Amino acid sequence: MDWEEPKGWPGVIHREGRTLVRVSERPDSQKTGPVSRRGDGVFLNPAMSGSRTRSVLLLDHAIESGILGEGPIYALDGLAAGGIRARRWLNEISEDNAKRLDVTISDLDRGAIDWAMGNHRDFPPLHGKGQLSSAVGDLRKLVLSHGRHWVDIDPFGSPLPFLDTAVQSLARSGVIEVSATDTAALTGSSRGAMLRRYGARVRTDGLAHDSALRVMLANLASTAAKHDRCMEPLLSIWDSHHLRVSARVRKSRSRANIFEDDIGWRVHSPTHEEVLASVEAGLHPSCSLDSLPMTCLLPVSHPVERKDPRISGPLWIGSIGDQSAMCSMTEEKATRLCAPEFADEDLAGWSEKDFEMERRRVVRSVRNIEHEGAVIGSAHHILVDDLSSWLGIGSPPSPTLMVNKLNEMGCNASLTHYGKPSFRTGASWDDIVEVALSLQPPM
Ligand SMILES: C[S@@+](CC[C@H](N)C(=O)[O-])C[C@H]1O[C@@H](n2cnc3c(N)ncnc32)[C@H](O)[C@@H]1O
Repeated sequence: MDWEEPKGWPGVIHREGRTLVRVSERPDSQKTGPVSRRGDGVFLNPAMSGSRTRSVLLLDHAIESGILGEGPIYALDGLAAGGIRARRWLNEISEDNAKRLDVTISDLDRGAIDWAMGNHRDFPPLHGKGQLSSAVGDLRKLVLSHGRHWVDIDPFGSPLPFLDTAVQSLARSGVIEVSATDTAALTGSSRGAMLRRYGARVRTDGLAHDSALRVMLANLASTAAKHDRCMEPLLSIWDSHHLRVSARVRKSRSRANIFEDDIGWRVHSPTHEEVLASVEAGLHPSCSLDSLPMTCLLPVSHPVERKDPRISGPLWIGSIGDQSAMCSMTEEKATRLCAPEFADEDLAGWSEKDFEMERRRVVRSVRNIEHEGAVIGSAHHILVDDLSSWLGIGSPPSPTLMVNKLNEMGCNASLTHYGKPSFRTGASWDDIVEVALSLQPPM
């Protein structure tokens, strides 16, 4: 495709991670919510920079771990806007891995693709490895033109219109990354939209974001199953105004046949019988039932009253991440691959302080993920605010102290990368209560 100078070019030079980018207007990197696309400019939302950093790290890990095979890797940044995500993949993953990448960016907006390709020409990957090509058009058509090992869908709003064809386009073993910004629907506050789009209900409580991630995973698993594929979550994160799930998708009719084994319900304030059923299904550690837990998961075969306000689902009841992928996301690796190094006479005109701020943003984008990976499949995700009200104790116990004490007792536990102070643990509910009461006695 011939390059045409887009309106507003050459704009100003900005940086995200280690990658330089021309944008029509300098974005406010402190911004944490959605931004609207303005007039002739190119779209770049700084609130998504953490998601792009994690995408770089996940791609690097997927290549290293062999799940994308040994040959060239065909990747598609399907709703690319100005192409910053794909350009960061090429520029920031290690040179040996980048040289296997054959990346396509696509978007309906010709101007955005021209910004992207102009940026690629002016600021190519520093190591000079990997290929980048572009296409303009509707992703739902374009995506089927080629098989891919990696497909990224990052829409305004819901990803559902793109999911089916994107899954079909994947190689026998590939990875799909899906963002969603229709947060009112996903967190259950817009009930009609949630039910219509995702076929589920979500209780609007502190775990609503966790439940929303699981609803998205359930939708992805069922879409994959329709095409004789199974889905294994690699990373599921809610970040400011959007959620993002990344999953490995593989051809396997036998696994697709049993995808419902990982679908079920989350029950708030479960009854004695519901907790027992959860324990029997292997979804909850055995406990005395002297005091009932705040929530439990149940298999889809368990009869529930779907309109019961305690119930969220149907949703994914398996692990929402992969231990090895998450444990690879260390602060050290994020810094090594993605954090920029200060240089005098910087092209973007950044001061030493600007560099330091970006380095901190990079580190923040993976905070706790490495350790959370070790417990990601655990039954309990406990918000300490909820725990203190549930147990009638004064103020919420410190999540760090809870984790330390549980670890001392030999139970696995970790802080989370979640918007509210919380921890995950495989400890029994009795142990959690004992530790909480030892830290914060009842009022
Ligand atoms: C949220 S933006 C993408 C942001 C980008 N991934 C990033 O990291 O900066 C969504 C993009 O999808 C594009 N788009 C919307 N509908 C589309 C479709 N049916 N096919 C292709 N692109 C589409 C829009 O033009 C817009 O640039």
